[in-house]
Amino acid sequence: MDPLATLKDEHSGILRLLYSIDRQLGWLESSGPDMFQRILGSMRRKSGRLSHDLQVHFQRENALYPILEKRMGPDAETVRVMRQEHQQLLDRALAVRSEISRMVVSGDSVRTWGLVALLQELRGGLSDHMSREERVLFWLAELWLSRVDRKRVSFDLSQMGGRSNSSLKRSLSP
Ligand SMILES: [Fe+2]
Ligand SMILES: [Fe+2]
Repeated sequence: MDPLATLKDEHSGILRLLYSIDRQLGWLESSGPDMFQRILGSMRRKSGRLSHDLQVHFQRENALYPILEKRMGPDAETVRVMRQEHQQLLDRALAVRSEISRMVVSGDSVRTWGLVALLQELRGGLSDHMSREERVLFWLAELWLSRVDRKRVSFDLSQMGGRSNSSLKRSLSP
């Protein structure tokens, strides 16, 4: 499979997972105390999965970025910026997870605004990062990578085995 298409599929899976956490936040805010903890528990599991899937996805992008940086030489600033954003996004995903855990542990069913703000930050950062990747970076990759380069990236991705498709699979099941 085309390596860029594979990475795009992973974006969709990750965003779907994030949107489903977002939807649950809406239910959380309109639910009574008994449902609150159940929804929160499910949000905690999903946010754990989100952090994991993000980490795997960013590792897999390391099959593409270094070779692209090499081919682009001094023009590779965009690639470097995108790589730097990975750590920031992972930190934001972890912050969401920690806030949900705090609410579970403390039985807090009132103060949701912290979580609302953290989720908003993560959603903004992640959708911006991924859309820039798809519109700019993958386009540059089409331009700069040779057929052999692409084959190599494809091969490296397949060798990483743990394709970050757990979200994709889940999104296909009810
Ligand atoms: Fe990325
Ligand atoms: Fe990405």
